[in-house]
Amino acid sequence: MFKLFARSNSERHILSPNGTIEFIFMLKSGHISYSVHKNSKPIIKPSALGFNICGEAALTSNFRLVRAHLRRHTETIELPWGEDHYIDNTYTEAAFYLAEDKLPRRIMTFRVRVFDNAVAFRYEIPPQPKFQRLSIKDELTEYNIDINSTVWKIPAYQPDRYEYNYERASLYDLKAPAHTPLTIRTPNGYYLAIHEAALYDYGSMTIKLGNKNILTTDITPLSDGTKAHVNLPFQTPWRLIMLADSAIELTTNRAMYALNDPPKGDFSWVRTLKFIGIWWAMYVGEWTWAPGDRHGATTEHAKQYIDAAVRLGISGLLIEGWNEGWEGDWLENGIHNKFTITTPDFDLEDVASYARRHHIELVGHHETVGFIDNYERQLEAAYNYYAANGIHYIKTGYAGSMMLIGGHREYHHSQLGVRHYQKTVELAAQKHICLDIHEPIKGTGIERTWPNLLSREGARGQEYEGGALSPSHACYLPYTRLLAGGMDYTNGIFDIMNSVKRLSTTLARQIAYFVTIYSGMQMAADRPFIYEDRFPEVFNFIRNVPTSFERTLPLLGEIGEYYIVAREARDSSSWYIGGVTNEAPRRVHLGLDFLSDGAYEATVYSDGHDAHYRDNPFAINITTKHVGKTDSLELYLAPGGGFAIELKKV
Ligand code: NOJ
Repeated sequence: MFKLFARSNSERHILSPNGTIEFIFMLKSGHISYSVHKNSKPIIKPSALGFNICGEAALTSNFRLVRAHLRRHTETIELPWGEDHYIDNTYTEAAFYLAEDKLPRRIMTFRVRVFDNAVAFRYEIPPQPKFQRLSIKDELTEYNIDINSTVWKIPAYQPDRYEYNYERASLYDLKAPAHTPLTIRTPNGYYLAIHEAALYDYGSMTIKLGNKNILTTDITPLSDGTKAHVNLPFQTPWRLIMLADSAIELTTNRAMYALNDPPKGDFSWVRTLKFIGIWWAMYVGEWTWAPGDRHGATTEHAKQYIDAAVRLGISGLLIEGWNEGWEGDWLENGIHNKFTITTPDFDLEDVASYARRHHIELVGHHETVGFIDNYERQLEAAYNYYAANGIHYIKTGYAGSMMLIGGHREYHHSQLGVRHYQKTVELAAQKHICLDIHEPIKGTGIERTWPNLLSREGARGQEYEGGALSPSHACYLPYTRLLAGGMDYTNGIFDIMNSVKRLSTTLARQIAYFVTIYSGMQMAADRPFIYEDRFPEVFNFIRNVPTSFERTLPLLGEIGEYYIVAREARDSSSWYIGGVTNEAPRRVHLGLDFLSDGAYEATVYSDGHDAHYRDNPFAINITTKHVGKTDSLELYLAPGGGFAIELKKV
């Protein structure tokens, strides 16, 4: 057996269940710090811990260990929906009860969980006679990682929130704060992602290179300059470090979910959803959000789209631009948006009852433009309005570079932003409403606790096509943003050559996204007539691919280059495989040994030999053949291309 807990005078070593990961907690001359080893090799060298507190002494030193507590936890968690039905939650946990041995004699608990593929720790500050409330000036957590490592990053504190292209850089270049998940490759070939789990009522963590050339924490500030005002007892989110031997292995790290609490209540009513929308027609300039002769969200259009959804075999319809507030410059005017008043040409009750009769779920829409005060005043009424009309899904939006909260401009990912998003999730849960949040707070796995939070955006999505997306973008996402959970990337745009929003993908790749980019609410984003009139055969894949999976097996890939993943359906024995590549064409052999015994009918949608995202995106081959677990498939991915495969048990 492994020794789970070795002690010397100043160090405690905590080993993961299989002994490969070691977390070392150090208490030297009253200072706390930690390091992490994988296979006995240092991954994180000694790194500082603690806080600067406003108006008080720092919470970093003068500590003594009052008691340490160790336990082993073994559990398999069942998830109601997602990329995997079951995830592992096996770890060694140590809690270090600390007390300052000088005035003001505060107490704090440092808790760490060591998994076989991750470490996570958090600070817990219990209530104490002298302190009921703290204002955090800085969280001082460091991550002392080899400076010669490679990092994949997007910048924090920028006007477009998380919507940036990923950049590969040296750790030396991480001078400005970057968002997490922050994916890193060490010179000895290990992959890690620094992230957080269970972010509640605290500023989101960003990471930058500090003065000592060590990665440091930069908690998103409030407009008053502090990082957070917290009531005791208080615990930080888990500081999570996912660890893997390869980039592809990193992509199925589920520790983030395991670190979140079980569902708070009965969520058996939650269903994942595939939907079309009164949406892309606005992006390509055919319709408008605002009322007028080209208004998209009219009663008539909504009914036409409901009919189309029925014909296409899709269960949901999103309607944007239905409410008062889109006239003129909607970004400027959003402060007056009304969430219970429709435009004159849209009758919500009529549309909702038509949708009900046709068994189509409506996806409501609230574009707040970040005017939180305006939105929160209407929140309860707005959710009631949808609930009363039998609407169980809402897409929310927070366009704009900052939020307006309590009359102050705040970051979306500040403590007050985090608090607002949480309020919407909890209120929606009460009303049996599922959310798809655009311009969200990043994912930290809270959908384990609040399964009605089916999806979020939180990265550059396909609305940036038409110049601001390159084929490599979707090859970065699985290794970076998607480590934080599913994303509404608005897949399935087939009108690739349209002149307003020219896409940088092939057609086959548009359906590959339904497998490579998981989302509990998956949008087939193009206009229905494009699917029905031009590509009905390709659309079959979108109709069939599930939105919840039994098991996910990443097969092949490298960060920013390509990604190939297989997923087993939950409610059938079918498998779905998707692959995407960057600008480089690729030929891959896929062994099918993950299939169960017996024959499968494979329908393969792949790029034609002369396909190219730039000038020949529609060249697609659709072939069907019988395969079994001893077979392999050879596939070609064109520049900017991809493939999708459906494997159905015969
Ligand atoms: C940005 C969202 O990402 C997009 O999906 C939405 O259509 C617009 N805001 C308008 O709300």
